[in-house]
Amino acid sequence: MITIAIDGYSSSGKSTMAKQLAKEIGYVYVDSGAMYRATTLFAIRNGMTDEASKEVDRDALVRNLPHINISFSLQPDGTQHTLLNGEDVESEIRGMFVSSWVSPVAVIPEVRHYLVGLQQQYGKEKGIVMDGRDIGTTVFPDAEMKVFVDASPEVRAKRRFDELAAKGVAADYEEVLANIKERDHIDTTRKESPLRKADDAFVLDNDRMTREQQMDVLLNLYKKIITRG
Ligand code: DC
Repeated sequence: MITIAIDGYSSSGKSTMAKQLAKEIGYVYVDSGAMYRATTLFAIRNGMTDEASKEVDRDALVRNLPHINISFSLQPDGTQHTLLNGEDVESEIRGMFVSSWVSPVAVIPEVRHYLVGLQQQYGKEKGIVMDGRDIGTTVFPDAEMKVFVDASPEVRAKRRFDELAAKGVAADYEEVLANIKERDHIDTTRKESPLRKADDAFVLDNDRMTREQQMDVLLNLYKKIITRG
């Protein structure tokens, strides 16, 4: 068994891909973004985010990190839900409110160190597919298989827009595109482990690929690495 790191931009489809790959090869899947989201929810619920100033009370959050317990539970339908101190928060962490606070929480170095430590624990036994922004560079720099998913902001915005429309959420394409570009900027320019391709990562540009084609590429890469030993 090996360790598989999948990194990439927001809405690049990397989570769907990582989940499907894990299922195909019988590995554990860990969504590292969900961990940043659950930590953000903890901060919001405990009054550590200030709407007026748009600031996070860093000291309070850092002091409380030992009280943040994040785990995952497998549902009967095969999906995975995120638990915060034992409570299922899966739908709450996907909402717009948590999304709007997650970037300022994810830039706090102590938060990153804490979550990276937990992520490394999950990966100790290998046989894991983890997706995120810094998995191939910081969490598992020795991962045998690293993939960097790339797609243009326009294609990602269109996908996100269609996803929202399918959920019946009215959205403006230009607004979605602006939000994607802003998140790209924050993710790639933050000081602590910014999003960047690991030197030894395989680049998957999925602008013009179907899900099936992407999965074929990933499975072939996996088989090649496994047989190489
Ligand atoms: O993948 P996602 O959109 O659920 O991630 C939520 C946020 O967490 C996103 O703004 C970037 C941040 N994140 C991170 O900084 N490092 C990771 N390994 C995963 C996510």
